[in-house]
Amino acid sequence: SDAPLVLGIETSCDETGVGLVRGGTLLADALASSVEEHARFGGVVPEVASRAHLEAFLPTLERACREAGVRLEDVDAVAVTSGPGLAGTLVVGVSAAKALAVGLGVPLYGVNHLAAHVAVDTLENGPLPGAALALLVSGGHSSLLRVDDVTADISVLGHTLDDAAGEAFDKVARVLGLPFPGGPHVDRAARSGDPAAIRFPRGLTGAQAVGRDGRDHHDDFSFSGVKTAVARWVEKARDEGRAVPVADVAASFQEAVVDVLSSKAVAACRREGVDHLLVGGGVAANSRLRALVTERAEAAGVRVRIPRPGLCTDNGAMVAALGALLVERGRAPSPLEIATDPAMSV
Ligand code: KG4
Ligand code: ZN
Repeated sequence: SDAPLVLGIETSCDETGVGLVRGGTLLADALASSVEEHARFGGVVPEVASRAHLEAFLPTLERACREAGVRLEDVDAVAVTSGPGLAGTLVVGVSAAKALAVGLGVPLYGVNHLAAHVAVDTLENGPLPGAALALLVSGGHSSLLRVDDVTADISVLGHTLDDAAGEAFDKVARVLGLPFPGGPHVDRAARSGDPAAIRFPRGLTGAQAVGRDGRDHHDDFSFSGVKTAVARWVEKARDEGRAVPVADVAASFQEAVVDVLSSKAVAACRREGVDHLLVGGGVAANSRLRALVTERAEAAGVRVRIPRPGLCTDNGAMVAALGALLVERGRAPSPLEIATDPAMSV
């Protein structure tokens, strides 16, 4: 194929990702993670992550080229996450991308991490529909977006007012004595538990969706309430000398979060008159979310697109996928002096 070969670089958090995409086809998705170095701190330590990116970048780049069977000189454009994310880790990827773009004499595209989480879907499910809603749930974000054009036109319908969904999973895992990052461990533990064992709160649903401030929170999320409720429940059980039923707590907590995410996303699709729902971000790897959102969307006549779990969590392929779309649509490249923007919005 003579479609342009696009290199994507992701360093917004703890994953060093390098992806290679040509014409909507994923050629390589190389990943190095510093997650184990952060485990004993129970969260990502920015300084440690930055140094890990520096050490991992070149080997990961080489691995991606080898996997794709291409040479670096074959690359036609370089895309990189320029925000949102950790200031110190973003700068490692952006610096590397600038150096590569200059060295290879190819255009540079600074891209939004959240838009990349949406764009990655094209690698598995083909071109995006004209209009879609996207439920983006990760360790840093929980947003409901309207995507009319992933390269130019995304609007925020709602977001979390406190914790991100992944953050709640990670904190609950900690309370239950499960390792960091907790999402996958809660997911696994929940499989042998009863999701109806304990009724945990569904934040900003029902009457709460119209907030005390009088604002409409139908498209917003709040996960600090459920997180605190789980912590209190576990604490009480321990105080009373009862064994904590880890599987039941995990399943009940997960059900509360996934119930809110899927019902709000599907309700927003109906209200907006949009019949495609994209789900992305690390929490989209959750098996119960995948099942429930699919079930509810299908019942409402909404088609769901969720990439395979490995493409939901942070990676370089998602950045390359968005870069490829920017090139394809003829969007202007970024200036070489692009800055990182840790608080970038869509
Ligand atoms: O998208 P991501 O890799 O990084 C951010 O941009 O934050 O998301 C990481 C988050 C973590 O909080 C992790 O616990 C959560 O995604 N996660 C999961 C699952 N796999 C990853 N949460 C629930 N269930 C999972 N299977
Ligand atoms: Zn992410």
